[in-house]
Amino acid sequence: MALLEIRNVTRRFGSYTALDNVSIDVEAGEFFTLLGPSGCGKTTLLRMIAGFDLPDSGQILLDGKDMVGIPPEKRPVHTVFQTYALFPHMTVADNIAFPLKMAGKAPQEIKKRVNELLERVHLPNFGNRFPHELSGGQKQRVAFARGLVNRPRLLLLDEPLGALDAKLREEMQIELINLQKEIGITFIFVTHAQDEALALSHRIAVMNRGNVEQIDEPSKIYSAPRNHFVADFIGKISVMNAAVMEAVPSHLKLAIEGLGEVTAPAREGVEVGDKGVLAIRPEQVRISHPSNESQLKNHFRGKVHDFLYVGDVTTYIVELVNGAYIEALLPNSAPGRAKFFEVDDEVTISWRHDAGIFLNDPQ
Ligand SMILES: Nc1ncnc2c1ncn2[C@@H]1O[C@H](COP(=O)(O)OP(=O)(O)OP(=O)(O)O)[C@@H](O)[C@H]1O
Ligand SMILES: [Mg+2]
Repeated sequence: MALLEIRNVTRRFGSYTALDNVSIDVEAGEFFTLLGPSGCGKTTLLRMIAGFDLPDSGQILLDGKDMVGIPPEKRPVHTVFQTYALFPHMTVADNIAFPLKMAGKAPQEIKKRVNELLERVHLPNFGNRFPHELSGGQKQRVAFARGLVNRPRLLLLDEPLGALDAKLREEMQIELINLQKEIGITFIFVTHAQDEALALSHRIAVMNRGNVEQIDEPSKIYSAPRNHFVADFIGKISVMNAAVMEAVPSHLKLAIEGLGEVTAPAREGVEVGDKGVLAIRPEQVRISHPSNESQLKNHFRGKVHDFLYVGDVTTYIVELVNGAYIEALLPNSAPGRAKFFEVDDEVTISWRHDAGIFLNDPQ
């Protein structure tokens, strides 16, 4: 049985449906992420798990027990917010001790537990400081410690790293993964940053306008998106309008208008005559000089329209003969070499027959 079962939960604000019949199971010990654009309903769902808000219909079960009627303080759940929400007039130790004091634990036990947690979040000598004497990353660590001190069954994290700069954010991501591994508490993590979701999670629920579009492991979400929204929201992807000419168990043959025929991986439920898009990740696309004629079946001529150099890799945006754009990623691994093509260079674009994915959901 799943630790948390969200069953057909709907939440409306007036005529607006913030969550539309959402069902999610989270297993004990998982690092589970809710990922989606601003306003898709992530915080609304967390608030209902925590008990700050109630569904209009549907159920939330924890350890098989319906949470309806159970107030937030009686649920074995703690929430960590982006803004830390530390008490400014209390020391770090008192902030962390707060949930234990509320639960009426003995002072010696509180002290021991607070020290354990300070060690665990790498702030062993910070107990007597006040929140205003801490950096953003340190404040967030205190907030994690306070969230964990009561040993909740579930820790809810609502964009906890959102206020940190990129470098610190990356450090804290690694700490968060280790923390979750060490203590084994189930995390439900909310973010609208897809790279963060991919890096941290055991599984991800991709949300869009109050709906769950896909629940899967990061690698599946990335390589086998269920629909156009997921493909587009996670990572970079180029899309071209395509019609299905042949659909057999081994492959699809697609007609790309103005370009020609391409081979793509087979996909269940796809039939001849279906229209949709061929979606392909930049790292699957090869770019070469036209003189090196590609051995691959899917190869086309194009012209470099633009490129984006980001240090380790360069993304080339290539205009194909039909006017469509496709992105190709090239690692800058040759020493001293950061640019292989110039704008307006004639190039060949190619990709393997098993790369790319045909998506035909309504957009
Ligand atoms: N109390 C409320 N009254 C009316 N509308 C609300 C209320 N709370 C949330 N909403 C609306 O519900 C939708 C979902 O909000 P929610 O806060 O869950 O989004 P989110 O996915 O957490 O977004 P973000 O990434 O910006 O935090 C939004 O359109 C929001 O305006
Ligand atoms: Mg939110």
